[in-house]
Amino acid sequence: MTAFYNHMDPFLADDDAQTMLRLAENFGSFGTYADEASNDGLGEKLPQRFDAAFNYIQNGIDGAGNEDDIETASQRTNYFRETYAYGDEIKASGVESFMNHPALKETARKVSHRDVIVPAIIYANLLVPGQELAVHTDVPEFRGANRKLLPQWLLVVMLHSGLFDEWRIPIATCVSWFGEAKGGAFTFYPDGPKGARQSIPAQHNSAILIDTDEVFHGVERVNQTLPDLPQIDKHMRLHFLGDKKWQLRDGDKPLADYDWSEIRYSISWKAYCFASQAEEQLWRSGSDNLTVDFILDRLEAALREQGVLTGPRPDPTAFAGMMVGHFVKFPQAQMAAE
Ligand SMILES: [Fe+2]
Repeated sequence: MTAFYNHMDPFLADDDAQTMLRLAENFGSFGTYADEASNDGLGEKLPQRFDAAFNYIQNGIDGAGNEDDIETASQRTNYFRETYAYGDEIKASGVESFMNHPALKETARKVSHRDVIVPAIIYANLLVPGQELAVHTDVPEFRGANRKLLPQWLLVVMLHSGLFDEWRIPIATCVSWFGEAKGGAFTFYPDGPKGARQSIPAQHNSAILIDTDEVFHGVERVNQTLPDLPQIDKHMRLHFLGDKKWQLRDGDKPLADYDWSEIRYSISWKAYCFASQAEEQLWRSGSDNLTVDFILDRLEAALREQGVLTGPRPDPTAFAGMMVGHFVKFPQAQMAAE
């Protein structure tokens, strides 16, 4: 089934699009997308998104293979992210009106076919030349199961298993692009993982609103302007220096200089989409929350029914790998058309 989405080009009024660039500048510096806290007894030795990382290292962005070694692959995908707003907490002043943008809410209503739209989060991503983003689906949410409580890969498994749909809270995501970077197209599989990969250019002041929890998507490589991609470790930051200049630094040590026009800048707006206020209330009340034991037992039962697991439940790391391998079906390389 083709996923419904809305491509908006242009997206905002010109002045408002410029404001989005100023937000990044005023924010001052961006850290890398570091892993969130680990979760005891649930494959805590694994990266939060090992589902996407392992697939990317093996298959590359389009399933055709990855020519990079693991080290380079992780540099490529270790992009920069900061949160502009989280619920009522505004971290980038000036983003308030965007959070509650009436046109965005209306588009989310249309795309999700749900009436009650509750904006949840805005974050900004910066990719330097040579970086790209592995194909993945975003971290979904369920009543009683979110990224503060469970590993991200487990939430992804829950969605792809289809076993927890009655607890799911669909999230609409609007990804918008600002600036002049070349390359870095948004690539996605609107017809499902077996369908064709499509791309939308990350054109200044354009956007897509889509269910990124269901639809596999990624970012094509941003045009590389330096001969070698610098080593990008978790603790490094990208600093705005003024006058359209950004600098990658390790502490105080400069590593690479970039012009604004080389940096891919996107903003993601995410909103919960409830079918009714009663459903929103049910979520807020916490009276119908999933528990981790129920989740793991149900997944284990499905693995046994489907002949994937016999004997005792394996150790957490092996169990995690089994669940991702069985339930999360990544897009495979398309055969070249004749
Ligand atoms: Fe995503």
